[in-house]
Amino acid sequence: MTGVTRRPVTGRWHPLRTAQLTIDPAFAIGPADRRLFGSFVEHMGRCVYGGVYEPGHPSADPRGLRGDVLELTRELGVSVVRYPGGNFVSGYRWEDGVGPAGDRPRRLDLAWKTIETNAFGLDEFMTWATAAEVEPMMAVNLGTRGVQEACDLLEYTNHPGGTQLSDLRRKHGAEKPYGVRLWCLGNELDGPWQVGHKTADEYGRLAAETARAMKMIDPSISLVACGSSNRTMSTFASWEATVLEHTYEHVDYISAHTYYDPSDGDRASILASAVDMDNFIREVVATADHVAAKQRHRRKLRISFDEWNVWYQSRLQADLDRRGWVEAPALIEDDFTAVDAVVVGDLLITLLRHADRVGVACQAQLANVIAPIRTRTGGPAWRQSIFHPFALTARHARGTVLRTEPVGPTYVTKRYGEVPVLDTVAVHDEETGELTVFAVNRGNTDLELHLDLRGLAGLSASSHVSLAAGDDPTATNTEAEPERVTPRPQPTPTIDGGRCSLRLPAVSWNVLRFSPAGR
Ligand code: AHR
Repeated sequence: MTGVTRRPVTGRWHPLRTAQLTIDPAFAIGPADRRLFGSFVEHMGRCVYGGVYEPGHPSADPRGLRGDVLELTRELGVSVVRYPGGNFVSGYRWEDGVGPAGDRPRRLDLAWKTIETNAFGLDEFMTWATAAEVEPMMAVNLGTRGVQEACDLLEYTNHPGGTQLSDLRRKHGAEKPYGVRLWCLGNELDGPWQVGHKTADEYGRLAAETARAMKMIDPSISLVACGSSNRTMSTFASWEATVLEHTYEHVDYISAHTYYDPSDGDRASILASAVDMDNFIREVVATADHVAAKQRHRRKLRISFDEWNVWYQSRLQADLDRRGWVEAPALIEDDFTAVDAVVVGDLLITLLRHADRVGVACQAQLANVIAPIRTRTGGPAWRQSIFHPFALTARHARGTVLRTEPVGPTYVTKRYGEVPVLDTVAVHDEETGELTVFAVNRGNTDLELHLDLRGLAGLSASSHVSLAAGDDPTATNTEAEPERVTPRPQPTPTIDGGRCSLRLPAVSWNVLRFSPAGR
C-alpha cells in the first residue's frame, strides 16, 4: 500500500490515507446523456411476471401493471428500458404477445427453460413504459429469425397506418405509432449458449442486411450491433472488428455487456471491477476506431453498454437444473450487499467518465432478476442496496462530465493487479452552477480527500452523503428490513480559498454536492 500516513483519530493512532483531487471545468468530457441511466426488462424469471406486471396485485392498475414497481422505477430515475431480452429474444416471436389475451399461445422459452404465457407483450410493455416515464428500447430476434421479422416488428411499432401490420397495432388500441428510436440487432450472438449462435461473419452479414432494411422503413431509428457478451470471450475484439467491418456504415452503436461476480469472496478484487469496465470500454472504442480508420468513416461509433451489473453467476446453473418447465420461476434473485452497492456506484462513475463514447447504458435488470427493485408476488416491493447509487447518480449527474485525475494510494488485487484506492468523476451543471463529485473509496480504511476547486470560483459545499460498507459489508435490504443499507449524510465540508478536505469512509460510495454561494 502506498500513500499511507498516520494521524490521530479519536485519541488513538490509526492508519489514514490521503488523496488529492483537482476539478476544473476546462477539462470537459461531454454531456451526461440521460440514456446512461437505462435499465432492462427481460422475460426472465420474475422480472415481468410478478415484477412489473401482476394482475390482481393490490397495487396493480386494471391493466395489471404493479403500481409500487412503477413508483420505484420513477424514483430510480431510469431513462430508457431495453425489452424483451436478453437471451429470451433470440427465440421470441413478437406476434405471440399482441392481440386478444385469450388467443395468445403458450410457448417454450429455451433460454431460461420456462413456459412463456405471452400474457405480457409489446403493447403492454409500451403502456408500462409510458406509465413509468421511460423511453422504450427494443431488441429484434436475430437468433432464430431474420430481416423479414425485424421489418414486420418495426412496421407494427413505428409505421403510422395504412398497412396490414400498422393497422393491426391500431386495431389493438394504439392509434398512434409508438415511435421507438432505439433498436438492438439481436442479443449476444457470439455466445455458444445463445439460441441461434453465429460466427462474427454470419452475424455481421445478417445484422447489416437487417439494419439496411429497417432504416428503409424508418430512417430516424438508431441501431445497436451486438458486441461481445463480455470481455473474457475468446473472440473478444476480433468479434467487434469483424461485425463492424460488415455493419459500421449502417449502425449507430456497438453493444457491450459485463457482469461482475463476487461469489469467490475476493472483496479487494470485486471492489476494483470498474477498472475492468474502464479497460473494456477503451478496448471496444479502439476496435471501433480501427474499423473507422480502415473504412475511412469520419463518424465515431458509440457504445451501448446495454447490460451491466453485479451478478452472483455461479448460482444460475443450479437454479436451471433444479426444475422442469414452469411459468415465471424465481431466477437469479440475488440479494445485493453494501459492498455490491459500492461496486455499482463505481461502475456508474466509469460509465460517466466515458460519456463521450458511451451513449446508452442499461443496468440488468429492473425487477427481481439481479435487480435494484425486489418484490414478493402478492406482497410488497423494496429497494435493494444497489438501488441507491443508481437513483442518486441519475438524479445528480446533470450537465457536463468533467475529467478528474485523483492522486492517491493504490492496492493490489488478484484479478486486476495494482489499482487506485480512489475513483472519481465530476459533473458540472452550467445552468445552475452546481457541481457534483462522485467518489468511491475502495480501501478498507477511511480516506482523507483534499479537493482543489479553485477553477470553479464561489462554490460552497451543500452536502456529502455516503453509502459505506466498511462496518457491515454483507448487509442487505430485505422485505423485513428494507432500509438497512442506505446512503447516510456526512459532515458537510467547508471551502476555504477554493479548497476543502473531507473524509470518505472505508469501502464507500459518496456524492459531494457544491452550489454557487448564496443559492
Ligand atoms: O441479464 C441476464 C442475461 O445475461 C441476458 O439475458 C443475457 O443477454 C446475458 O447473458
